[in-house]
Amino acid sequence: MTRMSKTEHIAPAVLVKAKRKIPAEVKYSTRFSVRVKFMDGTLYPNNTRFDNLTVTLHNKDVKLGPCRFTTEPHIDGFAGRLVFTDQVYDYHELLYGQKKWALQNSFLNLPFILDHKKQIHQQFMDYTSDLTYDLSVYKNMFDSLDEEYQDEPPDVRAAIQQAIIDTEGATFLTYFEERLQELGRLVADFSSEEHERHGFYFRRQVWSYIMTSAIMRRTNLKPRGYSGDSEMMRMIYQKEVLGDTTFSKIMHKHPIECPAAQAVRNRRILIAQTLETTRPANPLSQNERFKVLSVACGPSFELHDLLKSPKDCELYDFTLLDQDASALLEAATLVDEVEKKLDAKVKVDYLQDSVRTMLTTRQLASKWGDFHFVYSMGLFDYLTPPVARAVLTNLYQLLKPGGYMIVGNFHVSNPSRVYMEYWNDWVLYYRTEEELQHLLQKAPQADQVVVFEDTGCQMFLRIQKPRDP
Ligand SMILES: C[S@@+](CC[C@H](N)C(=O)[O-])C[C@H]1O[C@@H](n2cnc3c(N)ncnc32)[C@H](O)[C@@H]1O
Repeated sequence: MTRMSKTEHIAPAVLVKAKRKIPAEVKYSTRFSVRVKFMDGTLYPNNTRFDNLTVTLHNKDVKLGPCRFTTEPHIDGFAGRLVFTDQVYDYHELLYGQKKWALQNSFLNLPFILDHKKQIHQQFMDYTSDLTYDLSVYKNMFDSLDEEYQDEPPDVRAAIQQAIIDTEGATFLTYFEERLQELGRLVADFSSEEHERHGFYFRRQVWSYIMTSAIMRRTNLKPRGYSGDSEMMRMIYQKEVLGDTTFSKIMHKHPIECPAAQAVRNRRILIAQTLETTRPANPLSQNERFKVLSVACGPSFELHDLLKSPKDCELYDFTLLDQDASALLEAATLVDEVEKKLDAKVKVDYLQDSVRTMLTTRQLASKWGDFHFVYSMGLFDYLTPPVARAVLTNLYQLLKPGGYMIVGNFHVSNPSRVYMEYWNDWVLYYRTEEELQHLLQKAPQADQVVVFEDTGCQMFLRIQKPRDP
């Protein structure tokens, strides 16, 4: 379908003023206003109010209600702009989404959201209110300190800020940690429904503090619709202390240094090491490359650890699979960087697909190929048991005889779990070692072992397919 540009689309309209109908034409101006041409030739003064605007869009009359006219320099006969005064409509959505979407729609849920607090345990309310008071005191203090030295030269400012982060910041983080432990104890016996309800309430209370932290802001707002997108992963891997103010830096530093974030950095190294140590088990013929599939590859940061010399680049033939085109683009950018740095070519295929395709596609190997090594980090934590079982069993079919597979999953004992769920709105499927092992079905001969990375937050199921099945 070809889409008309916003500025091109002129729609017939009728304005009503004191029961008089005025023929008009309107066109897109901004999301929440339209340009208007009066067809009766009248010059209406600035701020004229109209009782109603009806626009004909996609052969339908759409009644948009009262609006106000502001004069602007005439261009192509358009006399000025109309803004809605009662319901505020999104004109872009009307034109392209074809939905009558009012800015106030979000308020429809308001009674339900306000009622939410009636189902919150008193002890939890007390905890939250106590915490928000303390956070506001701390934030004020850090913000006031920032004011004190804001006129210093940039390098002096940076040195002062670092000193504050290392001293008062560290004291604040000790306090913050203690309150997290307390939160953990408070919700330890909650059902999953209680966690969801109290987590929602909690985030409404600490929202302004969440928004100060670059990573927590992203995990909560989920601009790509899910937690764990490649941009969040990049923040964790790069471990840079982001933020405009001292407080925002501290609120970013804490989550990217928590055990679960360290586990993510550890797994990147663990994958590269496992690949290097298992490769000799699959001797290759001349000119053959070691075929590797990364499932839900994200930004593929681990390729930095794996490809250290031009010779390394000649060894592998990668297939990077992810459902998210932006993640694949970031992976491709990273491969490009590696190629430039090493002055070598990396053999990579990019597959934009969902692992759910496996559940419906027969003969997957003819579609995706077969591999010496298949790995997946940060995917199984999002899959329900039936889907995880089907995906793992299908991935196993893609292994060549003697090939290895390694898949990660956060362990039920993850000490950052409550923090991730309550502050970061990042909910995972946690598993025990047995639950992870039981995901692999129809592979009785496979050699399986579960290993942990150093923090113990995350485990990995390592599987070798027998050479002679
Ligand atoms: C937490 S990130 C992990 C990325 C990377 N493996 C890492 O460890 O850095 C999760 C990735 O899984 C991808 N993903 C989630 N569900 C998927 C699905 N059903 N099929 C393919 N990719 C999926 C997301 O797009 C995202 O890039």
